[in-house]
Amino acid sequence: MAQATPRSTVEAAVRPIRKRPKPLPWPLSLYQTYVGKKWVMAITGVIGLLFVAGHMFGNIKMYMGEQEFLHYAEGLRTVAYPIVPEKFLLWVARLGLLGALVLHLHAAFSIWNHNRKVRPVGYQSRRDYIAADWASRTMLWTGPIILLFIAFHLADLTWGVEAVNPDFQSGEVYQNVVASFSRWPVATIYIVANVALGIHIYHGAWSLFQSLGVNNPQINQGRRIFAALFALAIVAGNVSFPLAVLLGIVE
Ligand code: HEM
Repeated sequence: MAQATPRSTVEAAVRPIRKRPKPLPWPLSLYQTYVGKKWVMAITGVIGLLFVAGHMFGNIKMYMGEQEFLHYAEGLRTVAYPIVPEKFLLWVARLGLLGALVLHLHAAFSIWNHNRKVRPVGYQSRRDYIAADWASRTMLWTGPIILLFIAFHLADLTWGVEAVNPDFQSGEVYQNVVASFSRWPVATIYIVANVALGIHIYHGAWSLFQSLGVNNPQINQGRRIFAALFALAIVAGNVSFPLAVLLGIVE
């Protein structure tokens, strides 16, 4: 009697053969690899860290009064002017930041998707999950919070969307910040988002060394301290601004 062919064998025979993705030219070929995506995450992450630190230090000028803050904001628009047209470098920085953000998101999603597919199921994965660093698991919710915050923040202080900041006046950067943070729900959004940003930075600043291949037990303690201090400085600085307005220190 003829034996029935197992169903899985039949399915395997009729399933179309999946071609391997065609290798792209360098550096896209590097980005096709897991390590390449990790490098892109790390490099774009460093760009983000430098921006967030620079932005926070710049905003400290708020404590020096309206004129000083306006002077600083104007300075950002006219860097290297008249050698280059007004706002030229501002636009270069904006496009660079946008590019870094898009790449960071794409690499993050690809790595997350890859890890999800290769993760073992059952007992082992649960044990690994529990053992996994708390901060690394938080990336999944702190990332989307930061993304939503950036959209809100631009609508609030850059585009001046009526529904978000009804008192917005173009060019009045100091007044716009004060008007915005005087509303406690808006101040709360800034505080919560910046705490999420701090948690994201803490894990990001620690893991970027690993992504770049710097993983030496002798410096791992230093990596943790660096990541913690960096995150703490950003959160302290950024949370201080809405609090200062709410407490009437900046008005
Ligand atoms: C409480 C903390 C913060 C304050 C007081 C603040 C303040 C401001 C102000 C006043 C502007 C408008 C500048 C201008 O028009 O000249 C601005 C723009 C911007 N901020 Fe913030 N910011 C804060 C936190 C953040 C954070 C955490 C991020 C990123 C994660 C961020 C990203 C941006 C971006 C991308 C722009 C647009 C820059 C441009 O294209 O001109 N800010 N911020």
